[in-house]
Amino acid sequence: MLKKEKDDRFEKNDSLRVLMVGDVVGKPGRDVVIRRMRDIRETYEIDFVVCNAENAAGGSGITPEIYNAIVQAGVDCVTLGDHAFRQKSFLPVLRSNDQRVVRPANLPSEAPGRGWTILEAPATEKRPAVKIGVAALLGRVFMQTQGDNPLAAADKLLEKFADVRARFLDFHAEATSETQIMGRYLDGRFSAVLGTHTHVATADEQIFPNGTAFQCDVGMTGPFESVIGRKIDSVVENFRTSLPTSFDVASGDARLNGTIVDVDPALGKARAIRRLNFGIDD
Ligand SMILES: [Fe+2]
Ligand SMILES: [Fe+2]
Repeated sequence: MLKKEKDDRFEKNDSLRVLMVGDVVGKPGRDVVIRRMRDIRETYEIDFVVCNAENAAGGSGITPEIYNAIVQAGVDCVTLGDHAFRQKSFLPVLRSNDQRVVRPANLPSEAPGRGWTILEAPATEKRPAVKIGVAALLGRVFMQTQGDNPLAAADKLLEKFADVRARFLDFHAEATSETQIMGRYLDGRFSAVLGTHTHVATADEQIFPNGTAFQCDVGMTGPFESVIGRKIDSVVENFRTSLPTSFDVASGDARLNGTIVDVDPALGKARAIRRLNFGIDD
């Protein structure tokens, strides 16, 4: 039997440890978050959870009830993407003063909601409390919803985060090239640039030379026996015949995909990054 060796790269010490959870899809995705987030937080000693929940309501958008359930389960900040405004019932939450939910910052200024927030991770035995800036941006390549130039928008976000060292960006984009451009552009200026939207985790997690943790996509939290969360037969039928079919959320093999980033709390530089792939019954 192989002896499991201790991995020194993931010694926590005084690091701020943040988990970014990939797009939550429908009830299977919600179930993993709601039933297992406390366990995940404890097992991996997570200090702060950011969770993209843009597909949490039947695969499209989020409702106030679902949002409350996800926050109560142990999510500190919810991010949204191109489906941010799909559920009308959620618009009042976006218009409210709630600081825990963020939609892409490069959408029109008339759109409801905030594009960035500053929250706090509580003190631990090894470090004081840490302020955390979280923002979301929408990519433009292969994206139906078109936002303003995301690089210019990122520069504006950095002005808001001038007094915050730990800075996290959810870059909601389709093309890995666009996400790499964003990551390289922000290297040394954000603690982490992590992609969402494709629902497929990429194996390129790394720390860039100036200290930004990066991954093209952190993946999906939802049913993995599916096509990016939808029932296989109906989406295949749609692509085979071009006839409209209902893209219902699938049900099998609910998993949480996310990425854990350790950050130097004083400098805001990333110290470690690793992927998480956690089944509902793990
Ligand atoms: Fe999504
Ligand atoms: Fe999306």
